[in-house]
Amino acid sequence: MGIEKKLYGRTNEGKEVFLFTLKNSGGAAVEITNFGGIIVSILVPDKKGRFDDVSLGYDSLEPYMEPGPYFGAIIGRYANRIENSEFEINGITYHLAANDGKNHLHGGLKGFDKVIWHPQIVQSSEGECLELTYKSADGEENYPGNLDVKVIYTLTEDNAIKIEYFAETDKDTVVNLTNHAYFNLSGHASGDILKHKLKICADFFTAVSPEGLPTGEIREVKGTVMDFTDFKEIGPGLASGDEQIIFGQGYDHNWVLNGEKNTLKKAAELFDPESERRMEVYTTKPGIQFYSGNFLNVTEHVKDGAVYCKRAGLCLETQYFPNSLKHKHFPSPILKAGEKYRHTTIYKFFTA
Ligand code: GLA
Repeated sequence: MGIEKKLYGRTNEGKEVFLFTLKNSGGAAVEITNFGGIIVSILVPDKKGRFDDVSLGYDSLEPYMEPGPYFGAIIGRYANRIENSEFEINGITYHLAANDGKNHLHGGLKGFDKVIWHPQIVQSSEGECLELTYKSADGEENYPGNLDVKVIYTLTEDNAIKIEYFAETDKDTVVNLTNHAYFNLSGHASGDILKHKLKICADFFTAVSPEGLPTGEIREVKGTVMDFTDFKEIGPGLASGDEQIIFGQGYDHNWVLNGEKNTLKKAAELFDPESERRMEVYTTKPGIQFYSGNFLNVTEHVKDGAVYCKRAGLCLETQYFPNSLKHKHFPSPILKAGEKYRHTTIYKFFTA
C-alpha cells in the first residue's frame, strides 16, 4: 500500500539512519532500516486475526551497530563461512578477516549488515517498494572488485516479503547475499521455536565438519534427523545426539534445494501450531541454511523489553552453499566482471 519514512537514529559518525514502514491494506507491516538493510519487525495476523511481530530484533538503532546475531540484516559479500578465511580467483589468493575461529563468517568485521545503504522509495507494479543500494569498494574487507549492490524489499498485498538482490562487479569476485531474519511465528517474544514444524524441499544437505564447515559431502537426508521432506517438529532432532547436530550445536546446516537452478521455487515451509501461522519460503538460490538459533542469548535492548533465550527464533537463509569456493562441485559463487548477479527470495505469511 505505502511506505512511511522516519528518522531512526544516527551512527557514531553522526550520519542519519531511517526507518521505513511498509504496509499493505490487510494491516500487515514490515519495518526496515537502511542501516544494514535490517528487517526490524514483521507484523502479520494469526488464525484469529491478531497481529504479532514474528521477527526477532532490537529496540533501537544502537545495538544493531555492535557485533551481534545479525538480526534481520542483509549479509554480504559472502553469507556464511569461508574455510581458513581465504579464497583464490584467477590465481590470486585473497585473505579475509578470520572472525569465526580461523574461518571467515558473514562478510567479515564490517559486512553489509553494518553499512549504511542508500534508500529510495520506488514504484513497482506491486505498489511502493524500498530500494537499497550500496557501493562496496574494491578491497573492502579484502574482497576484490568494486561491487554495486541493490536490494529491493516489497511487501505484497498477500503478506509476502519479496527480497530482490542485484549485483555487478568490475573485477571477478564472490557474491553470496542473504537476509538473516530470525522468525518465531508465535511472536518474537514468545519463547523458543522447538514446537514449530518445518518442511524443507531438499533430499540432500551438505554435511559439516566439527567446526560447522561443509566438508564437500552431499548427503542424503532420508532416514536422518536432517530429513524435513515432510513437516517435522524441530525439537526432537535437536535433542537427538546425532553427530551432525553436535557439530552444528543444533541445526546450522545448508540444504541442497530440489528443483531447477535459478528458477523461483518453494524452498521451505514453517508452521506454528500455537498461532497457526505459516510461512513459505521461495527462492532462486541453490541452497538454504536452517539455523536453529543455537547461539542466541540476548538479555538487553530487545524489542518490547523481551529476552531471547537459545532457540528463541530460527533463520532460513537462502544462499549459495557455505564454503563453496573450496568445493568445486558446489554451485559457484563467483561473479565475473560484467556479469549480473540476480536473485529473489520470498517469505510469505498466511494462516491455514
Ligand atoms: C549463521 C551461521 C551460524 C551463526 C549465525 C549467526 O546462520 O551459520 O553459525 O554464525 O549465522 O550467529
